Amino acid sequence: MRKTILDLYSMASKGEKIAMLTCYDSSFARVLEQQGIDAILIGDSLGMVVQGHDSPVPVTLDDIVYHTQCVCRGSKNAFILSDMPFGSSQVSPQETFKNAVKLIQAGAQMVKIEGGMEMCDTVQFLVKRGIPVCAHIGLTPQSVNQVGGFKVQGRAEKEAQYILHSAKLLEEAGASLLLIEAVPYSLANQLCEHVSIPTIGIGASPQCSGQVLVIYDMLGLGAYIPPRFVKAFIKETGSIEEAVKLYVNEVKSSQFPALEHCYN
Ligand code: KIV
Repeated sequence: MRKTILDLYSMASKGEKIAMLTCYDSSFARVLEQQGIDAILIGDSLGMVVQGHDSPVPVTLDDIVYHTQCVCRGSKNAFILSDMPFGSSQVSPQETFKNAVKLIQAGAQMVKIEGGMEMCDTVQFLVKRGIPVCAHIGLTPQSVNQVGGFKVQGRAEKEAQYILHSAKLLEEAGASLLLIEAVPYSLANQLCEHVSIPTIGIGASPQCSGQVLVIYDMLGLGAYIPPRFVKAFIKETGSIEEAVKLYVNEVKSSQFPALEHCYN
């Protein structure tokens, strides 16, 4: 049976770590599930790892709808979360709702929206109309042109305060999950203590309720220099199945991420 948001909440409340990976097709979705993954993110990272762009910016809503459908055909048990790509959530709450409906109808159980407190009205609008939202803060890759690269966020005090304040407001607006990307370890720990919703980290902290990685990165296939938070699990295992199994085990046992995968 497919996991629901209640299962993720129950895991987080018992201290059981949530193991999440990105996935874009049906064959990988089947493998991920067989190896015990809890949640699958159809991320706009597909723009880089599948489509060969140098950022997620060119990814369209139709792309995410298509890949969500592909993943859902290969998966029966994992919780399914789909990204709202660039341009689909930076519009009015009403337009965003219409876009999010397409992802939910494609099989997503939750949508992920990048951005801080400026997204609160949109998050509230969606949640009040039955669409659960994961808020993505810290490094938000859709803003790569504004922040000037894939850089760690929140090192300056003012930036850290903005991220902390945003997290609380997004929770109050109704976000069900908080994804924290590429912030200093100490800020990630503060965020985990600051909100009561489950937190999913990538370049954040072992204290998060769960972790996510881009599947191609943990299989050592990224065409770019891997960020600090990536561990190529395949190097220790030699097979995709065993790499995913090791990832799940290391997340569950709090071995991954280690401090070497976090930022100062
Ligand atoms: O698009 C994506 O894969 C993501 C992860 C990096 C969290 O947002």
